[in-house]
Amino acid sequence: MRKLFAIIGHPVAHSLSPRFQQAAFEKAGIDAAYLPFDIAPETLPRAIDALRTLGVSGFNVTIPHKEAILPLLDELSPTAQALGAVNTVIAKDGRLRGENTDAPGFLAALEMFLGTNALPLPSSAVVFGAGGSARSVLWALTRLNLSRITLVNRTRERGEALVRSLPFLSKTIPTFALDDPSWKKELPGGPPSPPLTPPEKDTNAPLTLLVNTLSLQAFAGDDSLFPPLRDLSLASSVLLDLSYVSSLSNEKGLGGLTPFLAMGRPFGAPCQNGLGMLLMQGALAFRLWTGLDPSTEVMEGELRQATGQGDLWKSL
Ligand SMILES: NC(=O)c1ccc[n+]([C@@H]2O[C@H](COP(=O)([O-])OP(=O)(O)OC[C@H]3O[C@@H](n4cnc5c(N)ncnc54)[C@H](OP(=O)(O)O)[C@@H]3O)[C@@H](O)[C@H]2O)c1
Repeated sequence: MRKLFAIIGHPVAHSLSPRFQQAAFEKAGIDAAYLPFDIAPETLPRAIDALRTLGVSGFNVTIPHKEAILPLLDELSPTAQALGAVNTVIAKDGRLRGENTDAPGFLAALEMFLGTNALPLPSSAVVFGAGGSARSVLWALTRLNLSRITLVNRTRERGEALVRSLPFLSKTIPTFALDDPSWKKELPGGPPSPPLTPPEKDTNAPLTLLVNTLSLQAFAGDDSLFPPLRDLSLASSVLLDLSYVSSLSNEKGLGGLTPFLAMGRPFGAPCQNGLGMLLMQGALAFRLWTGLDPSTEVMEGELRQATGQGDLWKSL
């Protein structure tokens, strides 16, 4: 019988998962349908019951259900438990098990990006944002031997609450408000003195990873100058954005550059958008559902076609 897989979210129409997961099932010769379901928050418990009744084999979970779904599942993996968030559910023997492939997916994408571009492991990181995906990023970064991780969020209290809530953090993470310039001291060399001119690239300088998990609203109205980064030299930075190609970047001809990533361009800073993470978290989910390695070439081909972006791993 044809197997049913799904993604639930609200909204969900924009999701690229149905496209690349369906292609991976077909390539693997698995008779399956992967469908998007737009589930309003108040109907989540009934939707999970319905998926159980329909005999779903597995599903992905996206905004805004990643945390709310926890009490509706039968068991959680240690990673999902530690993160307090689920993006993948596996159905087996009538039970639903929650997993989190966002966090290892982010780590795998970061490693692939650094390797493809022959970049050394950065020595420190600044994470922007304290929402659901910042948890995954912090989980991944704690697995690398970084000397320092800093968190910057619009609301400092939310950032501090996030840091307190994560059981896998062995030491506290300094947390700042976006509009408090103190965090800029965390970058090598700190803010340059005006006038801002891109300095010569020092190839031996330790790299700082800047990871954006702020939603696109944070950039609304000004897509070229993100105020917190405006006066910084990003010559020794690597920029990663969890957002990926938006209609905005297509219209402006930015070729996969998000407004955040575009800030690094004058400095020649290596940068990657969230398509790599999307692919890796999806490949990990496919493996959990089927026990098989998916064709990442087929998945990547679908993502390239859907977004018009070229190589997912080369710096943009
Ligand atoms: N590539 C992938 O596979 C992947 C996976 C997961 C998520 N994502 C992307 O990551 C992004 C964040 O997702 P999330 O689940 O972490 O979202 P979230 O939980 O809603 O968090 C949103 C973050 O953005 C901040 N924010 C929202 N509006 C803002 C504004 N106007 N000005 C400044 N800050 C603002 C929030 O700050 P406050 O705390 O102050 O409210 C919070 O830090 C989304 O674009 C999502 O699509 C990508």
